[in-house]
Amino acid sequence: MLFCGALGLKNQWKVAIGFFAVSLLTEIICAPFGWIFSFGADGYSRGDAFIIYEIFYFVSLGYLIVSLIFVGRLFRHRDKTTIIMIFVVLVAGIIPMTFFKLHVAYVSIAIASCFCYIYYNDLVQQDTKTELVTNQEKITSMQEHIISGLASLIESRDTETGEHVMRTSNIVKIIAEDSLAVGLYAQYIDEHFISLLYTLAPMHDVGKIVVSDQILRKPGKLTKEEYEEMKRHASEGGNVVRKILSGITDEEYLSFASDIATYHHEWWNGSGYPKGLKEEEIPLCARIMAIADVFDALVSKRCYKEPIPFDEAIELMKKESGTHFDPRLLEVFINNKEKFREYCEIK
Ligand SMILES: [Fe+2]
Repeated sequence: MLFCGALGLKNQWKVAIGFFAVSLLTEIICAPFGWIFSFGADGYSRGDAFIIYEIFYFVSLGYLIVSLIFVGRLFRHRDKTTIIMIFVVLVAGIIPMTFFKLHVAYVSIAIASCFCYIYYNDLVQQDTKTELVTNQEKITSMQEHIISGLASLIESRDTETGEHVMRTSNIVKIIAEDSLAVGLYAQYIDEHFISLLYTLAPMHDVGKIVVSDQILRKPGKLTKEEYEEMKRHASEGGNVVRKILSGITDEEYLSFASDIATYHHEWWNGSGYPKGLKEEEIPLCARIMAIADVFDALVSKRCYKEPIPFDEAIELMKKESGTHFDPRLLEVFINNKEKFREYCEIK
């Protein structure tokens, strides 16, 4: 225990091994002569050199105390714990060795060692768990940056700034949080759902990568053929998402992002694209995305249109309840409309 524990003490391991070696040598040299202890007809008895053996124990103890006071401060808490545990084991040995018999000391050392081992093991597990959580947070943060960076880059092809991506992320988050607050779609919407929605909403238009600049940047109305080409950003959205994200996210992320990218132009009444899904056939994340996407498009300047005032946009959207939008989600959006005013160019 002393040896193994002390190996964790960074630069002090040589001293610790020295103590261990001296201890071992003392026992090996003295044991055959009965200098430290012997077992006779009347049981255990101490030898002439027992006091040396015990002095060595006290020196070890002193060394650990000094380490703890003067050097231990610089250690990580795990190293400090190692020193404390060796200290405990030594004390568990010295007290019975001094006042009782040597075999009592061995028993108490064994018991103290077991407790220390259990505690230490638990500490290491806690540390490992903390490290895992920290690493996972770093990976998640990297994923979020990659996702929003990529999406902004793609979005900037037709909106010039790419701000639409971040605005719609905030809007879907607010709609989902407000839905959660009133218990709407409570079986689906929880903190995890909101986190996924917020992180992956920027991917909703990444399918635009398959659409030409000529169509994306066209100032006027699209022809029928051009509109059909534009619609490919949704039908191809899922594939594009999977190509971009596979390898950096898991299947849950992929299918959630794919749903947003593919179905955010579906209509509640089934007249949307690409598949003409209706009502709750449309994934919930895409239904929320549709509200945020249309709202942001209405109140923002685009190459083909000027922004419209906030109240006008809200009135237009109200008219689409039950046709374009999920009526219950739109109701939540309308009830909390003041939260969205800040996202408008004309307030
Ligand atoms: Fe879109």
